[in-house]
Amino acid sequence: MKRTLGVCYYPEQWPQSQWAEDAQRMADLGLTWVRIGEFAWARMEPTPGKFDWAWLDQAIETLGNAGLRVVLGTPTATPPRWMLTKHPDMLALDQNGQPRGFGSRRHYCFSHRPYRAECARIVTALAERYCSNPHVAAWQTDNEYGCHDTTLSYSAAATHAFRDWLAQRYQSPQALNRAWGNVFWSMDYASFDEIDLPNLTVTEPNPAHVMSFRRFASDEVVSFNRAQTDIIRKHSAAPIAHNYMGQITDFDHFAVGADLDIAAWDAYPLGFLSDRLPATPEHRKRFVRQGDPDFQAFHHDLYRAVGRGRWWIMEQQPGPVNWAPWNPDPLPGMARLWAWEAFAHGAEAVCYFRWRQASFAQEQMHAGLLRPDSVPAQAYEETAQVAAELAQIPDVSTARADAALVFDYASAWAWETQPQGRDFSYFRLVFDAYKALRKLGLNIDILPPDTADLSAYKLVLAPGVATLSAPFLDALAIHQGIALIGPRSNSKTAEFAIPLPLPPNLPGLTATVARVESLPPDVPVPLTAGGNFLHWREKLEATAEVIETTEDGWPALIRADGLHYLAGWPDEAAFTRLLTSLCHKAGIETDPLPEGLRRRDSATHRFLFNYNAVPVEWGGEIIPPAGVSWQPHQA
Ligand code: GAL
Repeated sequence: MKRTLGVCYYPEQWPQSQWAEDAQRMADLGLTWVRIGEFAWARMEPTPGKFDWAWLDQAIETLGNAGLRVVLGTPTATPPRWMLTKHPDMLALDQNGQPRGFGSRRHYCFSHRPYRAECARIVTALAERYCSNPHVAAWQTDNEYGCHDTTLSYSAAATHAFRDWLAQRYQSPQALNRAWGNVFWSMDYASFDEIDLPNLTVTEPNPAHVMSFRRFASDEVVSFNRAQTDIIRKHSAAPIAHNYMGQITDFDHFAVGADLDIAAWDAYPLGFLSDRLPATPEHRKRFVRQGDPDFQAFHHDLYRAVGRGRWWIMEQQPGPVNWAPWNPDPLPGMARLWAWEAFAHGAEAVCYFRWRQASFAQEQMHAGLLRPDSVPAQAYEETAQVAAELAQIPDVSTARADAALVFDYASAWAWETQPQGRDFSYFRLVFDAYKALRKLGLNIDILPPDTADLSAYKLVLAPGVATLSAPFLDALAIHQGIALIGPRSNSKTAEFAIPLPLPPNLPGLTATVARVESLPPDVPVPLTAGGNFLHWREKLEATAEVIETTEDGWPALIRADGLHYLAGWPDEAAFTRLLTSLCHKAGIETDPLPEGLRRRDSATHRFLFNYNAVPVEWGGEIIPPAGVSWQPHQA
């Protein structure tokens, strides 16, 4: 498959007289795709029911005539002001019951049925008008579901929809009371209409109530998106994407992805390192202009799974962004490195955000490929270089990895609902495992939690999955390779109770988690073989073989055949040691990489990425700062 480049463009933000020149420059730069439309509802429908398509027809025509292929976004993330006049109760309410008002974007509640009807109307109009337009080659639904903390809403619309959802799931209030354990603190309900959302309670609400709300909220995003994909598919055969984000776990991306053809994500490596990622001050400083060396790759692998093989970068950081606490300039070469890293992980397309920096409004400090005065900005030349290189390297298809790591959105909700230790973050636990594998030079596949066939993998990891699914447990029972489950895996029922018999209840592994403890970050538990458990550990009563212990004598790692259970959260040294030994048992070669250097094997090539600001020598080759190198695999 030919890998391609693109850019995000907002024709409605520029004079029409500029479009043709912009389009020509995009084509000359070597871009294939241009994404438009996702914030333009007020220009598509300036007053209720009165559409203005002339400008959009013209924009698509102009871009298409330059040879570009258009990704057309549905504009439902930015309903116009008149929508609020028409539906004053369409806003989401925050946890304190305050409306999240007009004046930016994403000011809607996923559960508001009249707003959904408005979305169906505009999406139908768009799909009907552009379904046979030869230039419209892909669609994007909405924009970044969940961005700005918008998955959860505590509105009246959400309350009503939640009650319906509960009635369908539990059938009777009595069944719900039993499932949630509402006898505790006299929380029984006599009717579904008595059940409110789990905010504004005196102290913490029942975690089963919260988990139901989280599942419901995720389902609302899924059905909101599906309403759009159903309409588009009726009219158009072009693939449909959504642009997801980094480290956002508020809804089940796999479930949304089931209705899409392509999973896309928006990669802002410097913003993420500054804003989101757990990291030491030294790490932040070292990679301040490059981004974390594993964060992008993790999401590439995650979204390859969400897209069932088909995935894109819909927005790639080109220079300083505007929204992080600090917004440094990327090291020269990074806009190229980030793109190549995505291609090496199987991205079909990488689109930069955005074409020209706007001189107005919220994102005026956000770089584009062009400066506000239309002069090329730093990433422009790097983009041209990637385009030229893509023409020379014909295919970088991904190969299946030997190692797989399960990612489960519901577990993120579970451990946010009841962390038990303040810093217990599911994302961080999985990411720690991912980093350790990647530093050993491995390719990694990420798997959804209901994966039913593990036979292709020599090594499978499922840390922290709150409730292991029946298909996964069945697959584990017959898996011939090495598996590492735990800590905290399978420790809750689907209704968020402690299972009986006690966890972990893994096939063929006789062990009981007799008690658990969470620990402040400065209280490590040393392991006899080196390294520590941090944050969390478990006391196992086991008849399975004990392979490692803590210095105070608790089993740390046990196994029955290839199936291992890990009774704590290893620090970097312990993870590296443990995973090295499991890789060897599994017959996977490890190759510890120097700090900041990362590797990825595609089906045809071995890629090296230097995230350091200094050159690194590896395998007889010197890779410059922000450098990328690739070699065909030796036959
Ligand atoms: C993304 C969003 C874009 C733009 C960008 C700025 O989250 O989808 O519309 O706001 O961030 O970095």
